[in-house]
Amino acid sequence: MRVFVADHPLITHKLSVLRDKNTPQPTFKLLIDELMTLLAYEATREVRVEPFEVETPVAKTMGVHLSEPRPLVVPILRAGLGMLDGMVRLVPTAEVGFLGMARDEETLQPTTYAERLPDSVDGRQCFVLDPMLATGGSLAGAIKFLFDRGADDVTAICVLGTPEGVEAIREAAGDRNVTLVLGALDEGLNEKAYIVPGLGDAGDRLYGTVDH
Ligand code: PRP
Ligand code: URA
Repeated sequence: MRVFVADHPLITHKLSVLRDKNTPQPTFKLLIDELMTLLAYEATREVRVEPFEVETPVAKTMGVHLSEPRPLVVPILRAGLGMLDGMVRLVPTAEVGFLGMARDEETLQPTTYAERLPDSVDGRQCFVLDPMLATGGSLAGAIKFLFDRGADDVTAICVLGTPEGVEAIREAAGDRNVTLVLGALDEGLNEKAYIVPGLGDAGDRLYGTVDH
């Protein structure tokens, strides 16, 4: 498994505002969107393309376009939905599938409550979006789900991750082709398995369940 942790002052700056508990919900949502677009640039470095001939007003030259089947983008509901626009802005022709997963806050086990993926995931290059990689249970479940359906390789994009989460994904990936792109690698987990220092509950802060 390949792991990329962003190291760019603009990403760190936006992350710092995102972490602030006083950042209001509309700003939080906008920052998740902007961070996703910045992370997508790195995450799509290996996106599959093929050559084609393009004619400029001056001459013929070779260009590239995305290969078929198109990349499949899978936000994990709820919080991953906040990253979708930022991703498809960069890859507008990608296909989008949805996975709804919720972590039981007692057992920390994820359950899958919704699934809307294309009929065939065979041989697809998949991009999974979820802002938070905490214990890694949810993302590991999503990655396994996609490989079980025939995915060829999976790139997971998370705004924050922990060392525990990275190890869980490494274990789930085994020798399969998995890339993990993180905005930052935080210290670890607290006793409630929240990311420290983290940013709190991403879904609640995105969708307004927290008052500000
Ligand atoms: C959050 C987050 C991840 C998961 C991370 O979702 O968006 O999906 O927890 O935790 P883990 O790495 O320990 O599995 P949550 O289950 O709170 O659902 P939500 O997106 O609907 O808020
Ligand atoms: N889910 C979140 O939204 N935040 C955390 O810190 C951990 C899991």
